Amino acid sequence: MTLDITRLRRDTPHCDQTLHFNNAGAGLMPNAVADAVLAHLDLERRIGAYEAEAAAAPALSDFYDAFAELLHCDRDEIAWVENATRAWDLAVHALPLSQGDHILVHESDYASNHLALLQLAQQRGLVLDPVGSTDDGTVDIEALERAIGPRTRAVMMTHSPTHDGMINPAEAIGAVARRHGLWYVLDGCQSVGQLSVNVRQIGCHIYSGSGRKFLRGPRGTGFLYVERAALAQMNPPFIDLHSGHHTDGGYAFIDGARRFECWESYVAGRIGEAAAVRYLLDCGVDAVTSRIATLAVQLREALASVSGVTVLDRGIQRGGIVTFAMDKEPAQATLLRLRALGVNTSVTGPVAAPNAPQWRKHSAAVRASVHAYNTDEEIERFIRLL
Ligand SMILES: Cc1ncc(COP(=O)(O)O)c(C=O)c1O
Repeated sequence: MTLDITRLRRDTPHCDQTLHFNNAGAGLMPNAVADAVLAHLDLERRIGAYEAEAAAAPALSDFYDAFAELLHCDRDEIAWVENATRAWDLAVHALPLSQGDHILVHESDYASNHLALLQLAQQRGLVLDPVGSTDDGTVDIEALERAIGPRTRAVMMTHSPTHDGMINPAEAIGAVARRHGLWYVLDGCQSVGQLSVNVRQIGCHIYSGSGRKFLRGPRGTGFLYVERAALAQMNPPFIDLHSGHHTDGGYAFIDGARRFECWESYVAGRIGEAAAVRYLLDCGVDAVTSRIATLAVQLREALASVSGVTVLDRGIQRGGIVTFAMDKEPAQATLLRLRALGVNTSVTGPVAAPNAPQWRKHSAAVRASVHAYNTDEEIERFIRLL
């Protein structure tokens, strides 16, 4: 499928007013998404929120079908969660991990996941084992294999890190995890929407993400995939009258990944997130993926030719996140200077990825993240303004 860039930009009406290179923070919502959210909020104020939810049952149900199509799984393996952090937490806290179990992690992991693991390790007596990297900075598969010992129970890693354009070898990690019977938890927060994701091929048990980033959904939305066979061995940390019910003297969880949901939720956001997935599927995931990667290559090349700029991305396979440091300006000052010129970027650093080696040399980096609706002309303008 070829992308119609004019249509993409027409569907994103304000992309002409702002040069938006902060899609890894939050992508600009296409009309289909914003309209779906606003229409539902309007219905809520006109007929009442519970009544609006009932009227929106088909759109809400489509959330599960749309994600199943996007991730190549079944609808009952998908749950709605309000963000990627909680989705990941809910699943990880449900795993049967106990005193002395080892978990393999990587220096490219997201800060909140790492913090959650430090807490879990303290609560349950777990041991976190960092796995080494190849020269390109991604997870070293041979080192992963070597790191597995008798007490290793799980591999928890990040598909596309928050602070670096590199993409970790998700499928190769999955093959090792499966061969050794390990739990495999993969953070897909920066991958959905910019990479073609097939959870069956990857072989992960758990995959989490948010709606607002490369998917271009509304804020306050996320999702959780849990493989059906894995569910039986997991014990969700919370239950309510949506995720479970009373039995004779006890309780039981409902079937499927929706046992990780809670009754109350951001209904308009769920509808908008489903619309974002449908919009992406309609554009064509492969076409979007390859355009994002191509634009990012162009941006890195253009940045590399600017004196005083160092591109920090590693990895042989790279996505739409482009990170760089400037010799004579702190990253936050660059962000503010660009923002005043109508250019959106973000800043990344040890707060976001505490164990990444970049921070041995640089205190932070500017993160410019492109999407399919961005253009060559915007890249040229970005370089001029920088
Ligand atoms: C790799 C990665 N994982 C998880 C998250 C957390 O996502 P959320 O803010 O939706 O909880 C982020 C956010 O930037 C991220 O980049």
